[in-house]
Amino acid sequence: MRLAGALLGLVLAASVAAQGQVKLVINADLGETTISRHIYGHFGEDLGRNIYDGFWTKAGTGQWHLRDDVIEALKRIQIPNLRWPGGCFADYYHWRDGIGQQRPTMVNTIWGGVTEDNSFGTHEYMELIQRLGAEPFIVGNVGSGSVQEMSQWWEYLRAPQGSPLGDERARNGHAEPYNVRFWGVGNESWGCGGAMTAAEYANVYKRYAEFLRGGKPFRIATGPNGDDYAWTETLMREAGRMIDGIDLHNYTVARTWASKGRATEFTEEDWFSAVQKALRMDTLITRHSTIMDRYDPARRVWLIVGEWGMWHDPEPGSQPGFLYQQNALRDAVVAGLHLNIFNQHAERVRMANIAQTVNVLQSMILTQGEQMNLTPTSWVFDMYKVHQDATLLPLYIRSDRYSFGGDSVQAVSASASKDKAGPIHITLVNVDPNKPRTVEADIRGVKVSTVSGRVLTAATMQAHNTFEQPAAVQPVAFTRARLSGGMLRLESPPKSVVVLELR
Ligand code: AHR
Repeated sequence: MRLAGALLGLVLAASVAAQGQVKLVINADLGETTISRHIYGHFGEDLGRNIYDGFWTKAGTGQWHLRDDVIEALKRIQIPNLRWPGGCFADYYHWRDGIGQQRPTMVNTIWGGVTEDNSFGTHEYMELIQRLGAEPFIVGNVGSGSVQEMSQWWEYLRAPQGSPLGDERARNGHAEPYNVRFWGVGNESWGCGGAMTAAEYANVYKRYAEFLRGGKPFRIATGPNGDDYAWTETLMREAGRMIDGIDLHNYTVARTWASKGRATEFTEEDWFSAVQKALRMDTLITRHSTIMDRYDPARRVWLIVGEWGMWHDPEPGSQPGFLYQQNALRDAVVAGLHLNIFNQHAERVRMANIAQTVNVLQSMILTQGEQMNLTPTSWVFDMYKVHQDATLLPLYIRSDRYSFGGDSVQAVSASASKDKAGPIHITLVNVDPNKPRTVEADIRGVKVSTVSGRVLTAATMQAHNTFEQPAAVQPVAFTRARLSGGMLRLESPPKSVVVLELR
């Protein structure tokens, strides 16, 4: 039955695609997989102005405190988790420096060589998490730490009062054990986290993971760097039974790592390249999942995309080690593509963390003193939040192509889900900066009678929000969709992200 539906969908789609349109078939009564809310996760490394200035500031009071405006903005997009303290910094971080009254300073040698006063530590992070209504995701230090240091950090967070570390935590202001489960065992152990081979790391991982005792740590292993499939193979074979999640990292760089290009000054060639590279995420997930399936056919182990997003050259005049970049409509489109891909792979991909949250790489928020600016990417997270914990709907798409310089990519990508309360949501990305696409969607298995939506687009690919013009790129009501007899018709504007709600 399902196969017949799929075939019919493909036949219909092929004929429509031939006319330069997009055909979608959505089986709204056949959803089985939940899209984990953690796919919409974030990353707050102690890097540049992410923590200090971003989340944690002295502005206004002269005393360190959490920023209310940043917290409110992240709550609006329903931030489900925040990965901390790194990134590479995690393998430099010694958690005892960040608790209690007397905190030693350290130099953040990996990011900018600035002095870190450790005023933001474990308790401040947990307070931030609690105010965000999110789940903590802590990455422990393997590279320059020890098994004992990591195991005691876990125990400090989790142990009840009456135990030495539980009592110490209580003396530092938190009597109750913290609710923590997501635990990274090192970061990028193939690179900045210790330059290990997969076999070396698998052995090291098992030692560290074994000593996370008490409670139920959800143990996350350093995953592959992009297409390093051998890493996944070795790790699953050698340590898979002790792993709950594998943390794949893959960034989108429009040009080359040596010369990435600017966030807001680029050509259509750079746009096309970014889109093409972003779409590779689908292949990466498919191939890593296939390897994982061999060792874990029940799909117990999560594939986590713990770092993803666009990495540009730093903004001129900014400290290069701070990775501060602007964020344009191109970043928003790349975000929409990734999130559609993650949704489609929801059975294996259960968490992802865009890099990063405030003032670093593809962030949600830029700050300047007490001012705050929402990026186009944050609006995509706002539009897509409807997919969190909803049921993924099987969808067949046939789209014509966006061509550039003799190459081409699929013009429109989509994902769809059904909310527990009933509505169906469809997110669509048209990556063609020049042409709209007519989309015809056959909604099967349910009766829907109304459609509403929002669209994010702008006059230029480089459009972005600034402190002077904070609303240059933000979603507006989408009025070009019509429903009739279960058929949905709409025009998806060039270079746009659309979210639709069907009831
Ligand atoms: O996100 C910036 C850095 O990129 C992270 O610290 C590291 O894990 C990755 O290489």
